[in-house]
Amino acid sequence: MTHRKVLVVDDERGVRESIRILLKGQYDVTLAVNGRDAIAKFPQVRPDVVLLDLRLGDMHGIEVLQHIKSQDPNVEVILVTAYASLETARKALHLGAFDYLTKPYDLHELQQMVRLGIERREKTRRESRILETYQHDLTTLRQEVESAKSRISKHVRDTIFALLTGLEMRDAYSGQHSMAVLWLVDHFAQFLGLPPEDRTRLKRAALVHDLGKIGIPEDILNKPEPLSGNDLLAMQTHPILSAELIATVGALSDLAPIVRAHHERWDGQGYPDKLAGEQIPWEAQILAICDAVHAMSGDRCYRARLPESTIRRELISQRGRQFKPECVDMMLASTLIREIYQAEDAGTMVLTPQQIRQVLDDTPELDDEDLGEMPPLAQQVARLSLRGG
Ligand SMILES: [Fe+2]
Repeated sequence: MTHRKVLVVDDERGVRESIRILLKGQYDVTLAVNGRDAIAKFPQVRPDVVLLDLRLGDMHGIEVLQHIKSQDPNVEVILVTAYASLETARKALHLGAFDYLTKPYDLHELQQMVRLGIERREKTRRESRILETYQHDLTTLRQEVESAKSRISKHVRDTIFALLTGLEMRDAYSGQHSMAVLWLVDHFAQFLGLPPEDRTRLKRAALVHDLGKIGIPEDILNKPEPLSGNDLLAMQTHPILSAELIATVGALSDLAPIVRAHHERWDGQGYPDKLAGEQIPWEAQILAICDAVHAMSGDRCYRARLPESTIRRELISQRGRQFKPECVDMMLASTLIREIYQAEDAGTMVLTPQQIRQVLDDTPELDDEDLGEMPPLAQQVARLSLRGG
């Protein structure tokens, strides 16, 4: 076993030698003749315990103590003083000295104190080793959790992306419709001055709101006439299916109530839960009007796209019936009904797979638009009103 190391700092040769003779059997002893010598030898020796005379020829022991502690706070320092003023002792202990001996001291007492100093040093070493191991384990664990979380979110995104692709393969209209509604809610949310986190939430909800149609038979999805009877009932289960699918996906599960409610009506005559007014999540109120605007502005298998004037009239007639009144007012105040035709014809609302993945991402990065100007007051008021605030 390697010997523990003791640095003895005393400007009296006789004292140094007697201590060396006393300790040399048990420890590796190094002698320093004054403060500067001690400071120079300290980094090479790296002692476990320092026996430090307070009165040195060149500097005060307290200065040496401060220097040593700044190099290694765990080294144990025993002060030796001829005049045990309480103030000096207090200061020394405050600066981290282990203990102090008053001259003249008993050699046995000195030996005993060095032993205790060494024991404490070893205890500190053991504790810091345990702490290091613990911290290392903790860091490793955190890294593993983070990497598992990011793998899970990637799988989630890939799964949803695969489901969306599957839906589009069965029903090309639904895939395009989801992207168009995403485009609409995003622009409508911007018009309303909603903050970036609400926009992200709405965009995600738009992307997945009709995902449940993957569970609806293909002949119903593509029927060239408006649905009725059992076909209509089957089709009306799609918000429930969308919500159930999303509820199983941790990162997107909070969207489940929104997608479930996207066919509810302000007057309580919607489906599947016949929610009315503010019982409908505010995001679903926005989603509902955007969903309807796109449905009317696009060609369907059972009819051609409706002109802008018809859509406007339809929205007015459904104000306070199908839609929240303020939603209708704000949609009509915007230029989105006109813009959606242009965007659709120009294909600017079609997203790349990469963009779709980004929308589904856990921590979407803010873009320049998000960091833009604060919305005008009127838009803020509209936002509060829309959110039922
Ligand atoms: Fe739908």
